[in-house]
Amino acid sequence: MEVLHLVWSCIIFVLVLATDQSYPKIKEFSFPAHIPVGEKTSAMCFAISSESPVTFSWMKDGKEISSPDISIKNDKEFSVIIINPVSLSSSGNFTCVAKNSHGAVSFSTSLLVVDAPKWVVEPSNVTATVGENIVLKCSASGSPNPKVEWKKLEKNISLMQNVRFKPVNGSLSFSAVSIDDEGEYECSANNGVDIITKRISITVKGEILETSINENIR
Ligand SMILES: *[C@@H]1O[C@H](CO)[C@@H](O)[C@H](O)[C@H]1NC(C)=O
Ligand SMILES: *[C@@H]1O[C@H](CO)[C@@H](O)[C@H](O)[C@H]1NC(C)=O
Ligand SMILES: *[C@@H]1O[C@H](CO)[C@@H](O)[C@H](O)[C@H]1NC(C)=O
Ligand SMILES: *[C@@H]1O[C@H](CO)[C@@H](O)[C@H](O)[C@H]1NC(C)=O
Repeated sequence: MEVLHLVWSCIIFVLVLATDQSYPKIKEFSFPAHIPVGEKTSAMCFAISSESPVTFSWMKDGKEISSPDISIKNDKEFSVIIINPVSLSSSGNFTCVAKNSHGAVSFSTSLLVVDAPKWVVEPSNVTATVGENIVLKCSASGSPNPKVEWKKLEKNISLMQNVRFKPVNGSLSFSAVSIDDEGEYECSANNGVDIITKRISITVKGEILETSINENIR
């Protein structure tokens, strides 16, 4: 009985030793959230292993990395990936692979690069005549895609819900503009990263009311 117990203990000990001296273990890591275009970012893959040495390799979207903007610095226990500068195409799924004599393990994390809104079509002042149809264009690009919104300033109301103005793709359309439409307007583009705004004014000129003049003369 004693012998059997000893044998079991030995087997368990060997098993524990075997599990301990196996694959490396990677500590969870991530890139900082929402990196702006043009900045620098890095992530560290730290691997614990009782077996040495550990060799590291990195992949982006499952493929080998071959970008001049990406550099990798390896040490005995960790590997640092540096992306400088980040661009929109830097976004993706990065995988760190840590390998020792027993095998390899990997850990993946995603990088999301964002870009502040920029005007594609910046709106400008308009002068129109009563009854005319006018379209005020306003559009911006960015990542994520910005949401474009118009406001009439003195009323401080979002015009997006108002059917009278029919905003389509950031353009504000007035069918038959009236004197009441005159005023200051603001177009804003917001993508959660930043917001850009442009104020413009609509000037509405009255028509020469020939019929009423004629009636008065009569
Ligand atoms: C990231 O890449 C790894 C390795 O190619 C893959 O196993 C994993 O499913 C990917 N994750 C996402 C979210 O695409
Ligand atoms: C304009 O309206 C928004 C909400 O629609 C409100 O948060 C803001 O304080 C208002 N601004 C002014 C100047 O009244
Ligand atoms: C709105 O924009 C989309 C994409 O740019 C375009 O396909 C669509 O035709 C536009 N709609 C109008 C009414 O201009
Ligand atoms: C647009 O109109 C505003 C208010 O009338 C004025 O201050 C501004 O100078 C105008 N901008 C241009 C580019 O004409």
